Amino acid sequence: MINNNKILYSGMQATGSLTLGNYLGALKNWVNLNEEYECIYGVMDLHSLTVRQNPAEFRKNARSLYALYMAAGLDPEKNCIYYQSHVPAHAQLSWILGCFTYMGELNRMTQFKDKAAKHTENINAGLYTYPVLMAADILLYQADVVPVGQDQKQHLEITRDIAQRFNGIYGDVFTVPEAYIAKAGAKIMSLQEPQKKMSKSEENPNASIWLLDDRDSIIRKFKRAVTDSDTVVRYAEEKAGISNLMDIYGCVTGKDSAEIEKEFEGKGYGEFKLAVGEAVADELLPLQKRYGQFIQDKEYLDSMIQKNDEKAAYYASKTLRKVYKKVGFTEPAK
Ligand code: TYM
Repeated sequence: MINNNKILYSGMQATGSLTLGNYLGALKNWVNLNEEYECIYGVMDLHSLTVRQNPAEFRKNARSLYALYMAAGLDPEKNCIYYQSHVPAHAQLSWILGCFTYMGELNRMTQFKDKAAKHTENINAGLYTYPVLMAADILLYQADVVPVGQDQKQHLEITRDIAQRFNGIYGDVFTVPEAYIAKAGAKIMSLQEPQKKMSKSEENPNASIWLLDDRDSIIRKFKRAVTDSDTVVRYAEEKAGISNLMDIYGCVTGKDSAEIEKEFEGKGYGEFKLAVGEAVADELLPLQKRYGQFIQDKEYLDSMIQKNDEKAAYYASKTLRKVYKKVGFTEPAK
C-alpha cells in the first residue's frame, strides 16, 4: 500500500479528554513505533456516538484529540491522521462485516457487558456492534499491527476471526492484524480504586489524571492516591495501588520494578507518591505546551485534516472496492 512498509493502525474515541491510561497504554507506544511503520491514526468519532454526545462539545473534543495526537509527537505530514466519520467506507465495510459476525461472538464481548451495565438507560445497537465497526477500521487499511491497551485485546481477537472467516470464503482479501500490547502501561488503574481501570468516564476527579491537567493537580492527585497500610514500595498483587504507581513511574522513567524498589528502599509512601507525580508532570509538560500551540493554529489543523482525510479515503476505497467485487455486488453503470 503506502511504500513497502508494514502498516500500523490505531485510534481513540473522541470522547472527553484523554487520560494518563490512554497515553501510557496507547499514545506513547504509537510514538515509539512510529518510525518502524507506515502509520494511520483515526479520530474515532463514529464509535463515540454509542454514548450520547453534546454536539458542540463533541466537535471540540474531536479537534482536541487531533491536536493531542500531534502534540504527543505524531507528525501529520508523515502520518495519516484523519477523522473516521469523514471516510464513509468505515460504515460501509462495517455493514458487510456485520453479516459475517455471529451474535454469539458479540455476546461474549466483555466491554459490551461492562458498558451495558454502566449505561442501562441507553443500551443501543451501536454499542453491541461496536467491535464490528472496529474490525472495519482496521481491515480497511490492511493493518499489520494495532497498538492498543489491554482492554482492546478481545476486540482485536474478534477482528482477526472476522478477517480469517472472510478470507476463508473469498480468498486473501484482508491482512490479519496483530495486536501490539506493550508490557508496561497496558492497564493503568484508577488512582482511587486500583482494582478498576483508569477511565475517561470516571466521575471521581481524583481517580484519573487528564493529559491537560496542570502540574499542581497532577501532584495533588498522586499524593491522594489510594495505597495500603504497609509502608514498603514493593510490586505485589495484593498491593494494587502501589503496583499501579510503580507501573506509571516505570513507564515514565524507563526503570523496572527492581530499580524502583531499590530507589525507594527505606523511604515512605509520601516521598514515592511525590516522585511519581513530579515525573508524570515533567513528562506531560512538553506535550501540553505543544498542544497549546497546535490547537490555536486553525489553518494548519484544517489543512492537515483535509489532506489526511483524502489520503485515508483513498486507501480505504481500494479495500472496499475489492470487498464489493468479492461478495458479488453489481458494479454501478458507468
Ligand atoms: P479508547 O478510546 O477507549 O482508548 C484509546 C486507547 O487507550 C487505551 N486505554 C488504556 N490503556 C492502558 N490503561 C488504561 N487505563 C487505558 N484506558 C484506555 C485503549 O486500550 C486504547 O488503545 N475501541 C477503541 C478505539 C478504536 C480503535 C479502532 C482502536 C476504534 N477503532 C481501531 C484501534 C483500532 C477504544 O475505545 O479506545
